[in-house]
Amino acid sequence: MPSMTSANGELDIVSHSAAQTHRIGLRMGSMFTGGEIVLLDGDLGAGKTVLARGIAEGVGVTDPVTSPTFTIIHEYEGRLPLAHIDLYRLSGDGDISPTGIDDYLRGDGVTVVEWPGRAPDYFPEDHLLIAMRHLSESKRGLRFVPRGQKWRDFVGRLAREAFGG
Ligand SMILES: Nc1ncnc2c1ncn2[C@@H]1O[C@H](COP(=O)(O)OP(=O)(O)O)[C@@H](O)[C@H]1O
Ligand SMILES: [Mg+2]
Repeated sequence: MPSMTSANGELDIVSHSAAQTHRIGLRMGSMFTGGEIVLLDGDLGAGKTVLARGIAEGVGVTDPVTSPTFTIIHEYEGRLPLAHIDLYRLSGDGDISPTGIDDYLRGDGVTVVEWPGRAPDYFPEDHLLIAMRHLSESKRGLRFVPRGQKWRDFVGRLAREAFGG
């Protein structure tokens, strides 16, 4: 799998299939220890939910992970608690406090958020942003943007261990 890291700690990966994207998530989730916030940015069909399912499997979740579009939050229990959040239906005014997402973001579990752009500036500074985009029918570009030293270290490890970068 082609990958490239840049000076600012960003990592670019090209995934050639949904299965590959799932495996990237699986690898990430298996490295998580709790308190991780992962924001998945990208258009419909970019593969955010596919990646989220991989992360869930890596965290040890065995229940099927379904898209939480209509409920905003789905909670799972694995090796760690996992909250899968989809903000697609929010209006974009940033007011998401009624949903109780704050509790998750301060907790010891793993929080994966689709459509984080619906609530800009809402999330703690310390997070991993993954910008996903269509390259072709089966190819997706994944850009890992680490925010904070912990995430720069994480992305560096991911690049070395998973992609030999
Ligand atoms: N390389 C790839 N990575 C992820 N998904 C892919 C890839 N190639 C094709 N797909 C397909 O694209 C779709 C992605 O859907 P989904 O993960 O629900 O997108 P999103 O949550 O971003 O709207 C799935 O049907 C998946 O099978
Ligand atoms: Mg989705």
